[in-house]
Parts: sequence; structure tokens; C-alpha cells
Amino acid sequence: MKGIVVYDTSYGNTKKVAETIAETLKESGIEVDLFDVKDVKKLSAKDYDFLVLGSPTKFGTMSFTIRFFLGKVKSEEWMNKPFVAFDTENPENIEKARAENKEWSAAEKISEKLRDKKMNQLLPVLKALVLGWKGPLKEGEVDRTKDYAKELAIKLKEKKG
Ligand SMILES: Cc1cc2nc3c(=O)[nH]c(=O)nc-3n(C[C@H](O)[C@H](O)[C@H](O)COP(=O)(O)O)c2cc1C
Repeated sequence: MKGIVVYDTSYGNTKKVAETIAETLKESGIEVDLFDVKDVKKLSAKDYDFLVLGSPTKFGTMSFTIRFFLGKVKSEEWMNKPFVAFDTENPENIEKARAENKEWSAAEKISEKLRDKKMNQLLPVLKALVLGWKGPLKEGEVDRTKDYAKELAIKLKEKKG
């Protein structure tokens, strides 16, 4: 089994989360390629069994670059393949979403798009908290990311049977 982890980042926080997911999956015996979205020249579903996609939250949604990348994820190729999405966002963003009963998370919006492409969401999104716009990640978020990736590894292995 081999997957691709793709992320966008301006200040390195989303990259750190992506690296943590990729490392943890590898430790669980799952092969992954890790890419900054800017380095993905061609995306072929033939090469991968699953997709992990992450974005910083910008103005309550995914970055422009990730939105563009989603255009390369063709439903006819990726249909039924597993995915999870993650984002980085500020703690205030979670409070705002709760208060307004609205979704302001990049990961939720990515997930919606991938479900529309008939992909199979394996876990609820991971919202990794960053302090301010530049970070750092809030204390404990790297460990929470590792736990998330371990759970993902279990789900992927279940899928494979
Ligand atoms: C233009 C801009 C808009 C942003 N909008 C939001 C937002 O709506 N909600 C939020 O929680 N964080 C927002 N942020 C903070 C980003 O979530 C934060 O910069 C990002 O998670 C850091 O990840 P990175 O280091 O991978 O770039 C914004 C940041 C920028 C630069």
C-alpha cells in the first residue's frame, strides 16, 4: 500500500503536520510520498492507494493553491480511494465556527470536495491549532497529529484486509 501526502504552507506549520503524518505512517509500515503542493507536477491515481491533503486555513477556507490542486484530483481516477484532510487554524477560528454554527475550516471544505468526487473519507478531519498567523503549533498538537496518523494507519490496514 502506498499513499501521497500533499500540503500547502506559508510559514511551515502545515508542513510540520504533514511531515508528522508521513513519518508516523511510515513507522506503521505504510509507504508514503510527501509533497509540497507546489512540487506536484503530475498526479496519477495509478501510483497511489490513498490521499492525505492539508491546507492552512485562509479566510475560513483552503488556500488558493490547494483549491487549484483539487482540480487535478479526477473523480474517475480517485473514486472509492480513501482520503483524509487536515488543516492548521487558530483556536479563535474554532470558537467563531461554534458561535456562528458555520464551517470555517479548510479541512472540512477539502473533505466536502473529495466526498463530491466519491472518495472515501476514512476519519474526521484533523484541525491542528496554530498560535497567530505564523505559529508555532500549539503545545501538544504534534502528539495529537501522531495519534491521528496512528489511527489512520489502523484504518488503512483494515481497508486492505
Ligand atoms: C491571509 C491569511 C488569512 C488567514 N485566515 C485565517 C482564518 O480565517 N482562520 C484561521 O484560523 N487562521 C487564518 N489564518 C492563519 C493561518 O491559519 C495560519 O497562518 C496557518 O495555519 C499557518 O500555517 P502555515 O505555517 O503552514 O502557513 C490566516 C493567515 C493568512 C496569512
